[in-house]
Amino acid sequence: MGNSIYGNHINRMEEIVKNMQDRIAGLREKILNEQGMDPIEHYLARIKSDESMREKCRRNGLPETEESALKEIKDAIGIRIVCAFLDDVYIMRDYIIQMPDISVIQEKDYIRKAKPNGYRSYHMILQTFDGYYIEVQLRTISMDTWAALEHHMKYKKNLTCDTELIVAELKRCADELASTDVSMQAIKNLIMESESDENITS
Ligand code: GTP
Ligand code: MG
Repeated sequence: MGNSIYGNHINRMEEIVKNMQDRIAGLREKILNEQGMDPIEHYLARIKSDESMREKCRRNGLPETEESALKEIKDAIGIRIVCAFLDDVYIMRDYIIQMPDISVIQEKDYIRKAKPNGYRSYHMILQTFDGYYIEVQLRTISMDTWAALEHHMKYKKNLTCDTELIVAELKRCADELASTDVSMQAIKNLIMESESDENITS
């Protein structure tokens, strides 16, 4: 094995991943207790592999150094939180910004303003008190499904069929899924309302 692009930072990075996993598990427990519903479908935290990081450096015209991997590129540590419902994404966001020893460097709401291709997610760049960046992607199950499938197709190069049609169809699917997310949220709200009505009358 050659030298890691992360050098001797790798131990601290693994510690951050573990710490973030614990914090998210804690938040999940807290929200479940307070609201009676688990806001998270699943989540994963990872350190970008050495090879992917080197490839990303090259793609961005950066030298393959620790500095590029940890300071220029901000997703060496990445966390993806897949929520059940649309509101849960924003609930998680509101808790994440309050995490101690972490500052929020950037937020991009690709849910309220989807990318032109239809991609939706709430992106955050966080920074630990000791300077490590963490990219957080918050999304619903529908958004995650779409992103996974679109990711597969991105790598199918040399398509002989009509790529413009495919792009347009993918966009259409993204918009249909987004509309379903809104409907599912409305159904959840109806159920929650009827539950609280029961509590009042009983
Ligand atoms: P990179 O795309 O990572 O170089 O960074 P950026 O500064 O452009 O940030 P952006 O918020 O656009 O994207 C960050 C990450 O979100 C990407 O690395 C992907 O994991 C995910 N992402 C962004 N756009 C898309 C998209 O169109 N499709 C899919 N499947 N994932 C996307
Ligand atoms: Mg990008």
